Amino acid sequence: MTQSELFKTTQLGPYTLKNRIVLPPLTRSRSSQPGNIANDLMATYYRQRSGAGFMVTEGTQIEPRGQGYAWTPGIHSPEQIQGWRKVTDAVHAEGG
Ligand SMILES: Cc1cc2nc3c(=O)[nH]c(=O)nc-3n(C[C@H](O)[C@H](O)[C@H](O)COP(=O)(O)O)c2cc1C
Repeated sequence: MTQSELFKTTQLGPYTLKNRIVLPPLTRSRSSQPGNIANDLMATYYRQRSGAGFMVTEGTQIEPRGQGYAWTPGIHSPEQIQGWRKVTDAVHAEGG
Protein backbone atom coordinates (compact mmCIF):
# COMPACT_ATOMS: atom_id res chain seq x y z
CA MET A 1 0.00 0.00 0.00
CA THR A 2 2.79 2.43 0.87
CA GLN A 3 4.14 1.82 -2.67
CA SER A 4 0.93 3.32 -4.07
CA GLU A 5 1.15 6.49 -6.18
CA LEU A 6 -0.89 8.13 -3.43
CA PHE A 7 2.06 8.04 -1.06
CA LYS A 8 4.68 9.38 -3.46
CA THR A 9 5.90 12.95 -3.16
CA THR A 10 4.82 15.47 -5.74
CA GLN A 11 5.49 19.09 -6.63
CA LEU A 12 2.77 21.76 -6.31
CA GLY A 13 4.25 25.05 -7.49
CA PRO A 14 7.05 25.85 -5.04
CA TYR A 15 5.91 23.17 -2.56
CA THR A 16 7.10 19.60 -2.37
CA LEU A 17 4.18 17.60 -0.98
CA LYS A 18 5.01 14.50 1.09
CA ASN A 19 2.12 12.57 -0.51
CA ARG A 20 -0.83 13.15 -2.84
CA ILE A 21 -3.54 13.10 -0.19
CA VAL A 22 -5.49 16.36 0.06
CA LEU A 23 -7.83 17.49 2.82
CA PRO A 24 -10.64 19.40 1.12
CA PRO A 25 -12.40 22.36 2.74
CA LEU A 26 -15.07 21.04 5.10
CA THR A 27 -17.35 23.39 7.03
CA ARG A 28 -17.26 22.35 10.69
CA SER A 29 -18.82 25.38 12.44
CA ARG A 30 -16.87 24.73 15.63
CA SER A 31 -15.56 28.21 16.39
CA SER A 32 -15.79 29.66 19.89
CA GLN A 33 -18.61 32.07 20.67
CA PRO A 34 -18.97 34.95 20.83
CA GLY A 35 -16.51 36.12 18.20
CA ASN A 36 -16.28 33.14 15.79
CA ILE A 37 -12.77 32.33 17.05
CA ALA A 38 -10.72 29.31 15.96
CA ASN A 39 -10.04 27.21 19.07
CA ASP A 40 -8.29 24.17 20.57
CA LEU A 41 -10.91 21.77 19.22
CA MET A 42 -10.14 23.01 15.72
CA ALA A 43 -6.39 22.79 16.32
CA THR A 44 -6.88 19.14 17.31
CA TYR A 45 -9.04 18.44 14.25
CA TYR A 46 -6.42 19.81 11.84
CA ARG A 47 -3.47 18.30 13.75
CA GLN A 48 -5.12 14.87 13.46
CA ARG A 49 -5.21 15.31 9.66
CA SER A 50 -1.71 16.71 9.18
CA GLY A 51 -0.56 13.48 7.49
CA ALA A 52 -2.16 14.80 4.30
CA GLY A 53 0.25 16.20 1.75
CA PHE A 54 -1.89 19.28 1.27
CA MET A 55 -4.61 20.73 3.50
CA VAL A 56 -7.32 23.23 2.75
CA THR A 57 -9.11 24.67 5.77
CA GLU A 58 -12.79 25.34 6.03
CA GLY A 59 -13.89 28.72 4.67
CA THR A 60 -12.98 31.62 6.93
CA GLN A 61 -14.68 34.99 6.59
CA ILE A 62 -12.40 37.97 6.08
CA GLU A 63 -15.02 40.39 7.42
CA PRO A 64 -18.35 40.00 9.28
CA ARG A 65 -20.46 40.35 6.12
CA GLY A 66 -18.59 37.45 4.55
CA GLN A 67 -20.03 34.90 6.97
CA GLY A 68 -22.21 32.33 5.19
CA TYR A 69 -23.05 29.97 8.07
CA ALA A 70 -23.32 30.20 11.85
CA TRP A 71 -20.16 29.59 13.92
CA THR A 72 -17.72 29.58 11.01
CA PRO A 73 -14.31 30.86 12.19
CA GLY A 74 -13.38 34.33 10.95
CA ILE A 75 -9.94 35.75 10.31
CA HIS A 76 -10.55 39.49 10.66
CA SER A 77 -10.25 40.19 14.40
CA PRO A 78 -7.00 39.90 16.41
CA GLU A 79 -8.59 37.09 18.50
CA GLN A 80 -9.51 35.16 15.38
CA ILE A 81 -6.03 35.53 13.92
CA GLN A 82 -4.56 34.28 17.21
CA GLY A 83 -6.97 31.33 17.09
CA TRP A 84 -5.90 30.36 13.58
CA ARG A 85 -2.27 30.63 14.71
CA LYS A 86 -3.01 27.77 17.14
CA VAL A 87 -4.26 25.71 14.21
CA THR A 88 -1.29 26.38 11.93
CA ASP A 89 1.19 25.87 14.79
CA ALA A 90 -0.43 22.49 15.59
CA VAL A 91 -0.19 21.37 11.96
CA HIS A 92 3.37 22.60 11.54
CA ALA A 93 4.39 20.80 14.76
CA GLU A 94 3.32 17.54 13.09
CA GLY A 95 5.23 18.30 9.90
CA GLY A 96 2.12 19.36 7.96
C1 LIG B 1 -15.60 26.54 1.86
C2 LIG B 1 -16.03 25.12 1.55
C3 LIG B 1 -16.65 24.37 2.52
C4 LIG B 1 -17.05 23.06 2.26
N1 LIG B 1 -17.67 22.33 3.23
C5 LIG B 1 -18.06 21.06 2.98
C6 LIG B 1 -18.70 20.27 3.98
O1 LIG B 1 -18.94 20.71 5.09
N2 LIG B 1 -19.07 19.01 3.65
C7 LIG B 1 -18.82 18.48 2.40
O2 LIG B 1 -19.16 17.31 2.17
N3 LIG B 1 -18.21 19.19 1.45
C8 LIG B 1 -17.84 20.48 1.70
N4 LIG B 1 -17.22 21.19 0.73
C9 LIG B 1 -16.95 20.52 -0.53
C10 LIG B 1 -15.75 19.61 -0.36
O3 LIG B 1 -14.59 20.36 -0.08
C11 LIG B 1 -15.50 18.77 -1.63
O4 LIG B 1 -15.17 19.60 -2.67
C12 LIG B 1 -16.71 17.96 -1.98
O5 LIG B 1 -16.96 17.07 -0.92
C13 LIG B 1 -16.52 17.20 -3.31
O6 LIG B 1 -15.48 16.30 -3.21
P1 LIG B 1 -15.10 15.44 -4.45
O7 LIG B 1 -14.62 16.39 -5.50
O8 LIG B 1 -14.01 14.52 -3.95
O9 LIG B 1 -16.34 14.72 -4.83
C14 LIG B 1 -16.82 22.50 0.97
C15 LIG B 1 -16.19 23.26 -0.01
C16 LIG B 1 -15.80 24.56 0.26
C17 LIG B 1 -15.13 25.37 -0.82
